[in-house]
Amino acid sequence: MGRLDGRKALVTGGARGIGKAIVQALAAEGADVAINYQSSESDARALADELAKTGRKTLLLKGNVGERDTWTAMVGEVTRAWGRLDILVNNAGITRDRTLRKMTDEDWRAVLDTNLNSCYFGLSAVMPMMVEQKFGRIINISSFVGQAGNFGQANYAASKGGIIAFTKTAAIELAKYNVTCNALAPGFTETDMLAKVPEAVRAQILARIPMGRFGSPAEIAKAVLFLAADADYITGQQINVNGGVYM
Ligand SMILES: NC(=O)c1ccc[n+]([C@@H]2O[C@H](COP(=O)([O-])OP(=O)(O)OC[C@H]3O[C@@H](n4cnc5c(N)ncnc54)[C@H](OP(=O)(O)O)[C@@H]3O)[C@@H](O)[C@H]2O)c1
Repeated sequence: MGRLDGRKALVTGGARGIGKAIVQALAAEGADVAINYQSSESDARALADELAKTGRKTLLLKGNVGERDTWTAMVGEVTRAWGRLDILVNNAGITRDRTLRKMTDEDWRAVLDTNLNSCYFGLSAVMPMMVEQKFGRIINISSFVGQAGNFGQANYAASKGGIIAFTKTAAIELAKYNVTCNALAPGFTETDMLAKVPEAVRAQILARIPMGRFGSPAEIAKAVLFLAADADYITGQQINVNGGVYM
């Protein structure tokens, strides 16, 4: 028996990085998972093949999560295939790091659209179904940068801090329908996003982390699984999985 047997989940940006680890963790506990991707089609297909070998069903949903039309199409496809959705993980995210003196409106808008507006579009697309079911687990991936701020990341910090505030408000409004909404705030985690950071800066970052190492996607996914499977009386919270970099 898995902790998520019979559950249906949707993970955005699920083909690689933290999203892939979340898909694997949910599927390992019995959930069927719809995997959203934007550009990583072959990774998404490989992951679906991997899960099919374990008997899990998947849906591959291509689209830009920063656009409402993507959500209408994705939730329509999930409804046709499965008739319900129990778990939504808003994981897709980007950085466009620049100091405020160099930041363009395009840098600002791209990050806010992908990281924050996606959470609003996603929640509003799944909300009618979850309210009707009287069950839903919504998990928004924030970042410790949304709590602490970070040099060169005003757009990213605003999007991730916005996710925390949005999550709390959604939690208040949806609690009476047994729909919980929580944010998970990772610290520095070994993915392509962190790989973009120059080596000298990585060394400076490592020196700031009390646990002395970066996190792994699987360590973030464990906490998402907890929120999806075991956190029945937890809502409106931000769970920090960050090696102590922000307390
Ligand atoms: N890595 C870290 O240190 C860290 C720390 C704190 C928080 N986070 C957060 O954790 C989440 C995952 O990060 P990661 O490190 O796994 O990043 P990553 O390796 O750079 O992967 C980014 C993911 O987001 C997807 N994505 C980007 N723009 C999209 C869009 N417009 N529509 C749909 N999907 C889109 C990508 O999909 P495609 O490849 O298909 O385009 C990819 O799956 C993000 O929200 C990030 O902000 C990461």
